[in-house]
Amino acid sequence: MTKKVTTKTIRSWKGSDHKITSLTAYDATFGKLVDSAGIDVVLVGDSAGNVFAGHDTTIPMTMDQMIYHVSSVRRGVSRALLVADMPFGSYQSSDEKGMENAIRFMKEAGAEAVKLEGGKRITGLVKKLTESGIPVMGHLGLTPQSINEFGGYHTQATSEITAERLIDDAQALQHAGVFSLVLEKIPAALAKKVTETISIPTIGIGAGPACDGQVLVIYDMLGLYDEIEPKFLRRYANLADDVRSALGRYIDDVQSGDFPNEDESY
Ligand code: KIV
Repeated sequence: MTKKVTTKTIRSWKGSDHKITSLTAYDATFGKLVDSAGIDVVLVGDSAGNVFAGHDTTIPMTMDQMIYHVSSVRRGVSRALLVADMPFGSYQSSDEKGMENAIRFMKEAGAEAVKLEGGKRITGLVKKLTESGIPVMGHLGLTPQSINEFGGYHTQATSEITAERLIDDAQALQHAGVFSLVLEKIPAALAKKVTETISIPTIGIGAGPACDGQVLVIYDMLGLYDEIEPKFLRRYANLADDVRSALGRYIDDVQSGDFPNEDESY
């Protein structure tokens, strides 16, 4: 369990009995908890835009904000592979800009890989990044940075033609050099087909059980962010309720004079 997880380790788990586990983190405290629990991949997702910053989408997240999150998580993580999510606008306008921003994640924040959303459109950049020694995780299906194009958080690739396009994109990304591929909110049967078709691990979120691994947003799975309830989400705790209850008790204790007591005073 203590052996450092690298992109080589992730690749080696394809077709093995080991299901890859991944969760997001945005700060050192959660990074440390997730890492010490034995999670394989810690993703500093631009979902920080929703669950941390309170935006409706991931679109507003900037490079400087993501650098702050990734470098914070870096200080809590030692075993897991640390992946930085490239935010909207950090790689879409040119490959040069994408290269510069990926290099910032590696040099300034200590990321070990970057994640990019998109298929064939980004394979030129993926090739340049991997050839420069920057490992890339792909992301297909419901890619939240394209929410304005999709018009909502619907299941993706549900028709024959869009399913075929997704398989083509997965193959193109593999060919360009990605070491793993996130599949978000697509039919389970399609995720199975992609997983069987490509030779790099797939990591699913709302993509059924056949993927080589699973990822969830930590605030969602712990029930801290309880504003959305997608069908794919399993809640492992209801921390928002626990926090509300603790805060209520604190207010009562301060107002009643019960806190602090003699033992809690100098
Ligand atoms: O931003 C994020 O947290 C993600 C995961 C949900 C895969 O992209």
